[in-house]
Amino acid sequence: MKTNDGAKPSRREFLRAAGTAAAVLALGAMPHAARAASNAGAGLKIGIVGSGRIGGTLGALWLKAGHEIMFSSLDLEHDKALAARLGGKARAGTPKEAAAFGEVLLIAVPYSALPQVGRDLGDLLKGKVVLDPSNPIPARDGEIATWAREKGAGLASAELLPGTRIVRAFNAIGYTRLPEAAKRQERMGMPIAGDDANAIAVASRLVREVGYEPVLIGPLAMGKYLIPGTPLAGEHTPEQIRKIAATLK
Ligand SMILES: NC(=O)c1ccc[n+]([C@@H]2O[C@H](COP(=O)([O-])OP(=O)(O)OC[C@H]3O[C@@H](n4cnc5c(N)ncnc54)[C@H](OP(=O)(O)O)[C@@H]3O)[C@@H](O)[C@H]2O)c1
Repeated sequence: MKTNDGAKPSRREFLRAAGTAAAVLALGAMPHAARAASNAGAGLKIGIVGSGRIGGTLGALWLKAGHEIMFSSLDLEHDKALAARLGGKARAGTPKEAAAFGEVLLIAVPYSALPQVGRDLGDLLKGKVVLDPSNPIPARDGEIATWAREKGAGLASAELLPGTRIVRAFNAIGYTRLPEAAKRQERMGMPIAGDDANAIAVASRLVREVGYEPVLIGPLAMGKYLIPGTPLAGEHTPEQIRKIAATLK
């Protein structure tokens, strides 16, 4: 998905390249994460950093889908109780243990905590697929949120979590909606943005397993639209998301 001349691909070119990459992935010769993404039967090891409303809810849903989940936060006792309540392949650990455990990480913390998470986890993050639902909210997160909004939420997260393969997802749908998604008659879309084809494939699988249809709206730079308050926020059909995304640059 990178151009040879260093010029930035247009959103349309990006989506075409992403489609080709997905097709190549489907044909084989793919790394572990992408193989896992294409094999619905194989459970993933998912480390959750931030086991609050979003992290706790998604972890429980992915557990039901057959994955191994390690919950972590600043409160290990809370996470032990959560894992015990959910049972099965749920466990609890420190954020470092969750980062080491997960082949895929969900980092779901207040945006103001992301710099600390990046520093604390350091090399444990290198090369990991990271789903990034965290939103910069100036009233809650202060200056870091203003900076992140200026830079764009996806690119800002990538800078704070260096070496990761980030996909923005689950950013602007309330956590109470998630457990109901798979039961609805019409499948709603989930806009996602990322630069790494393997990470996009893994994220797409995990979005689908929660009951949404993933819609890649473009590279990580498009993550600036994946925050509350933009036209993509809230629930839309996949077709509606594609139409809205086509009006955004
Ligand atoms: N709530 C939603 O419906 C929703 C929807 C979409 C996106 N989001 C975004 O998702 C993120 C999480 O939201 P939330 O509602 O799930 O928040 P939450 O319920 O307050 O949970 C935040 C979690 O992050 C943990 N945490 C905080 N600082 C940490 C650190 N330095 N290291 C490790 N863990 C840390 C907290 O642990 P402790 O409890 O131990 O402090 C808690 O488990 C936010 O950025 C939010 O904007 C939320």
